[in-house]
Amino acid sequence: MVIFKKAADLQDFITNKRNEQQLKLGFIPTMGALHEGHLSLIEAAKKQECLTVCSIFVNPTQFNDPEDFKKYPNTLTADTKTLLDAQCDILFIPDVQEIYPNGFDAVKTYAFGYLETIFEGAQRPGHFEGVGKVVARLLELVQPQLLFLGQKDAQQCLVIKALIKQMHWEQKTSVIIVPTIRNKQGLALSSRNLRLNETEQQQALALYQSLQFINAAKTTTTFVLAQQHCEALLRQNHCKIEYIALADAETLKPLADFDHQKDMIVLIAARVGAVRLIDNLLI
Ligand code: PAF
Repeated sequence: MVIFKKAADLQDFITNKRNEQQLKLGFIPTMGALHEGHLSLIEAAKKQECLTVCSIFVNPTQFNDPEDFKKYPNTLTADTKTLLDAQCDILFIPDVQEIYPNGFDAVKTYAFGYLETIFEGAQRPGHFEGVGKVVARLLELVQPQLLFLGQKDAQQCLVIKALIKQMHWEQKTSVIIVPTIRNKQGLALSSRNLRLNETEQQQALALYQSLQFINAAKTTTTFVLAQQHCEALLRQNHCKIEYIALADAETLKPLADFDHQKDMIVLIAARVGAVRLIDNLLI
């Protein structure tokens, strides 16, 4: 695995490789604290026979809560080993200066319309604007043919697809969405799980149990009744609910009730102790 800190060195390396051979470049952008979920993205890129590039950059502009940014785990040594073991080809670990050389405001801002006003957009003002800024910059640096993203961040996947459209890059970069990886008990893997103590890990299982309950209830009851059941389940488990929502899986437009003509998605966000978790299920 080759490791680059400087964007110019990364670009030189990729350009040279491109001159030597036809390249299919697969890109996995991350903020580190890597887990099996990230590894499934690397694996997906390897399966497609891509030259695999992984970036680790904790992007300040996407944290609406400065405390969350400060507490974001930094596990670079372990992450580097994990990527080596996974046979990742290139690791890019830029600093803030590399990504935002002229400051945060000098980078083009993209707008994502209603996606910024619902669910994660509503709960975390400015978050997707920050995601748009960093992903646009990373895409310009890496120029991948394939971009691998996790289904766990369903709304982020739609935002990034919208970004690629606005950049007119649909012919250049295709997005591959990889299913959520869960632990044995169903908890969706997330870098934030590192901050859950044992009790909280048990309480957090109520998120996936709720998603499963709604999936099982979709043909026998209304969404509102299923939602009420899950609100009670989450409260019993000391989870502070931010939203339990049903939406059209393609557009993420909220649905008031199950619509079996559509591919649907259930989305949950809740705080378990001090940790904010999200999860979703396609139903
Ligand atoms: O999902 C993440 O880890 C981040 O939002 C991303 C896509 C790497 C952008 O910083």
